[in-house]
Amino acid sequence: MDHAASSPLTARRSGPLQGRLRVPGDKSISHRALIFGALAVGETRISGLLEGADVLNTGQAMRALGSEVERTGEGEWRVHGVGVGGFQEPSGVLDFGNSATGCRLVMGAVAGCPITATFDGDASLRKRPMQRILDPVARIGARALSAGEGARLPITLAGAREPIPIVYRTPVPSAQIKSAVLLAGLAAPGATTVIEAEASRDHTERLLAHFGAEVVVEPEGEHGRKITLKGEPELIPAPVVVPADPSSAAFPMVAALIVAGSEVILTDVMTNPLRTGLITTLREMGADIEALNIRGDLGEEMADLRVRASALTGVEVPPARAPSMIDEYPVLAVAAAFAEGTTVMRGLKELRVKESDRLAAVAEGLKANGVAVEIDGDDLIVHGKGRAQGGGTVATHMDHRIAMSFLVLGLASEKPVKVDDVSFIATSFPAFVTMMRGLGADLS
Ligand code: S3P
Repeated sequence: MDHAASSPLTARRSGPLQGRLRVPGDKSISHRALIFGALAVGETRISGLLEGADVLNTGQAMRALGSEVERTGEGEWRVHGVGVGGFQEPSGVLDFGNSATGCRLVMGAVAGCPITATFDGDASLRKRPMQRILDPVARIGARALSAGEGARLPITLAGAREPIPIVYRTPVPSAQIKSAVLLAGLAAPGATTVIEAEASRDHTERLLAHFGAEVVVEPEGEHGRKITLKGEPELIPAPVVVPADPSSAAFPMVAALIVAGSEVILTDVMTNPLRTGLITTLREMGADIEALNIRGDLGEEMADLRVRASALTGVEVPPARAPSMIDEYPVLAVAAAFAEGTTVMRGLKELRVKESDRLAAVAEGLKANGVAVEIDGDDLIVHGKGRAQGGGTVATHMDHRIAMSFLVLGLASEKPVKVDDVSFIATSFPAFVTMMRGLGADLS
């Protein structure tokens, strides 16, 4: 993905943040809605789709693989699918830009089809590990015809002519690996099973059932799950209503907690328990977050969250919680800086292989703004003082969540915080700056 030249932005100490906000649709569900729509026979209608660059790239890939993808209004999309195993060979490279989710899930879906496709992305995505997908899809019968050094992108994948159903234990808790295996398993005869030692987000399982596939989810050990999918279903189009993304809501949520006098209501936020680790942690820290109007919609729970500025204290976040808040550690680290006392976030190895090495990027950004922080193995330790000095410039490393986290830091710091490049925010939350300004944030 080409992106506009670096655009810096500065966040300054702001008056109370106030108002109601609906952040855009959930990124994980948006990618999956397009992919499932493309694998269903007939027309799937999606509303509330996140129209960020990552998801639009997945939509483009679904077109290149033979389905019709049409925008009919704001967040309203129609996908005319080709059926399980029905993808056609794309004529060009599939470019996923900044998005590992799009890339890895579509690799899984392509792995079950008798076609060859080349996957690529931007400089950040080209650094990210893909062996974790190539391993299971090889067992299903797909082959990597070529790959960059260390099994990185660009990768040309030849899908399986006769996909084999497998039993796969994910080596790290990852919804992307799990989903890639299940998507490949759709085209295999018989049962495909994924076993995960720690449960990761289950949107793929929920959508499989929503589209009429037979999927059985059982507990595995203390924190894990075993998911079994019956192969070769006919996926039946079903409307998908995408709730607001809790990983995007995390930014105004933490901003409202740390900017004195704030009160913000975040509406329609998905509250799937495998995504709410941040809310659990913030409440343990003393955050005033109230869930109002709790409801379910087509397989996913949601609520309106009322967030009030709160005095926070440091806590210890157990490693078992990581999968349910894996994308939220950067902004939790910002909240931890404004807490009194030390926050220890344990078991963050996977943060090193996200859009950037987030463990390093968070520590660097906090240090640049006068916050005491240490990395100890895979643990991140922030020594909160109830305030942050600010005054630093933060390198975003092509990472949207690093950019948004440090803009939030600047809203409550004593001196302004400058972020070197906010252009990547468009991958997941294009209206972030406008929406935050609407609440009263000083961003310029
Ligand atoms: C996602 C899974 C997570 C997460 C990513 C979205 C998904 O990645 O970090 O932003 O939609 O499946 P991993 O599966 O690599 O942990």
